[in-house]
Parts: sequence; C-alpha cells; structure tokens
Amino acid sequence: MATVTLEDICKNYGNVSAVRDVNISVADGEFMVLLGPSGCGKSTTLRMIAGLETISSGTLRIDGERMNAVPAKNRDIAMVFQSYALYPHMTVRDNMGFGLRRRQKDKAVVARRVNEVAASIGLTEYLDRKPHALSGGQRQRVALGRAIVRDPKVFLFDEPLSNLDAALRVSTRAELTRLHRELSATMIYVTHDQVEAMTMGDRVCIMSHGEVAQIGKPMDVYLNPASTFVASFLGNPQMNLIPATVSEGVVDSGSGKLARSGLMSGSKVILGLRPEDLAITGDANDAVLSGRVISLEALGAETLVHIDAGSGKPVILRGGRETPARLDDVLHLTCKPHMARFFDAETGLAITPGDTQ
Ligand SMILES: Nc1ncnc2c1ncn2[C@@H]1O[C@H](COP(=O)(O)OP(=O)(O)O)[C@@H](O)[C@H]1O
Ligand SMILES: [Mg+2]
Repeated sequence: MATVTLEDICKNYGNVSAVRDVNISVADGEFMVLLGPSGCGKSTTLRMIAGLETISSGTLRIDGERMNAVPAKNRDIAMVFQSYALYPHMTVRDNMGFGLRRRQKDKAVVARRVNEVAASIGLTEYLDRKPHALSGGQRQRVALGRAIVRDPKVFLFDEPLSNLDAALRVSTRAELTRLHRELSATMIYVTHDQVEAMTMGDRVCIMSHGEVAQIGKPMDVYLNPASTFVASFLGNPQMNLIPATVSEGVVDSGSGKLARSGLMSGSKVILGLRPEDLAITGDANDAVLSGRVISLEALGAETLVHIDAGSGKPVILRGGRETPARLDDVLHLTCKPHMARFFDAETGLAITPGDTQ
C-alpha cells in the first residue's frame, strides 16, 4: 500500500523534451489511468516511476519518500507490459514465482503464494505449461500473476491489454477492476484507449505532448473537459466542437442559436456539444444547429447521424435505433442547454460563462 507523488517531473532526451512539469498525486489504493495519444509521454512517465528511466528534474515520492536515486529493484514496484516478457524456458509456475524467489528463500512459501494467486486468476490448470503452449490472453494473465505474487507496493501497467482481441480485452478489463478492488493496491495504468480509462480508472490523467492536460474522475472529465483537446480525446464519437460567435446573450453557431448569458459579447468561442445531448426538433427557431444529413451509421443499439451544419467537420447526433433521420433530410437540432460547453477559440481552454468578464 502506497501513495505515489510526481512533483514537477521532467524528462529530456538530449534536447528533446518528452515529459514536462508533470504533477500527479496518486492516493493509497487508487487506480490512476494515464491516458493520451501515442507519443504523449505516458510510458516515459511510468518508466520514471518504475526506475527504468532516470528523472531529468523534479521529485518522485513513494509514501512520501524521495525515490529519484533509488534503484528499480528497491522501489517495491511490479510492472506489467504490453509484451508479456515471460521466460520461455520456464513453466508458468516458475515464471510466476520468479520475482518472489529472489527475495523469499523459503520454497514452500513461494509455492503456496503461487498456487493461491494462480487460483484467484484462473491459472491453476496451466501451472506446468510453458509460455509457448498458452494463448496471448493466458500469457498476459501469467505476467499479471507474476506481479501479484510479489505483493508490491505499487502496480504499474503499460498498455497490458493492447495485444488481446476485443472480447478478451473486455473480460480482462473487468477482471483487472475486480483485482484492484480485492488487492486494494495502488495501480497506475497507461493506455491510449479511452474506454479502458473511463471504465477502470478511479481517476484519469490525460496527457498531451508531454504535459498533463487534465486530471479527474472519468465522468467529471467527460462532462467538463478542460480543453478542446480533452473534449475530443474522451468520448466516441468525440464531442462536437463548433466555432461560434457571441452577441448579447446569444451564441450563434452559424446555423442556429443558443441563449447564454455571461459570455463576452463579440468573442469567438468553440461550442462543445456531446452527440447524445443533441435532439431533433421540428421548429427551426429552437435550433442550435441545422443542416443536411450526409450519412447514417446504424450500430445496432444506436444510430450515428452525421449532419453538415456548415461548421467544418460534420456534426454527429447520437440517435436511437429507430431514428426518424434519413439521408439528405434537413434537420434542426436542439441541445440540453445545461450540457453546452464553451471553449476559448484561440487557446482551446474551457470557459465557464460568467467567469470571463
Ligand atoms: N529513448 C528515447 N530517446 C529519445 N526520445 C524518446 C525515447 N523514448 C521516448 N522518446 C520520445 O518521448 C516521447 C514520449 O514517448 P512515450 O513516453 O513512449 O510516449 P507514449 O507512451 O505516450 O506513446 C516521444 O516523442 C518519443 O519519441
Ligand atoms: Mg507507450
């Protein structure tokens, strides 16, 4: 059990800045997800926590204790990677016990612990097999088991589900969540998959270009993204982001209007509307957006309606299975007014109406 604190952490490779001024405070027992596009610095950050990468500047603490100069093997951390990194010549049993055997000399203790963990994650019947005789999902389970056997202070995961097929990813996701609950362990989990972040994280830290873009509970970040970057990264399809101008209490999207006081008259904003917060209306005067249906994606449970509202990218409405929308229809859309979000057109940062003047 442990807290992990990153204070102004930076990583430079020569004159390339990979991670900049990262501040993250992971609570004891928390499941923190680092989420962001490829190359944004997630793995580098995780590897600095693990001690596999030196820290250029800033302070890393585990349980309050400065760790910058502590070697990886003395940090009491277990890491699970995308590639399973199992020893091919060893059985599952030996792979799982490997980390613990180096610390715990009593063979009976190691054997008991390996059996216990194997049972808890469904590996008992595979204990005498070698990795080549396992599926990808089973190998990843062994890698996970090896980490659990060690009972570390902190678990680190770097995209551990990326090599698994879709169905297995879903079931393993649920299993990791269960394990987190059972072990009450501090876990830091890197992914570029926003569904994993939304479903697994107690909190999510969204990174962009080596910096933290926002940290919060998944639903809080989803509902109140701090920037257009976060708004477009979290959510599938992403939040509609529509350039708009403000005049006297009205936000004009170019194809419709929304009453909203507290925004500076004359300013240019980006209006953010989630696809599920849009609805079709018969009255053009109520519309926040209007345009022609240019495509429909029937996904079974829902239909995504793509509308050309003249705002650059198509606007997407999340319609029901039985949506009345048809190709080439001209639609008028309303939104739930309290769900509309606003961003500064220049900086992309969120604006709360009323805070700007
Ligand atoms: N050993 C290295 N030398 C130089 N640049 C690196 C090295 N490792 C990572 N980088 C760079 O640091 C940035 C962050 O990489 P990484 O942390 O692997 O991103 P992510 O895991 O989010 O995809 C990238 O631009 C990458 O090219
Ligand atoms: Mg990575």
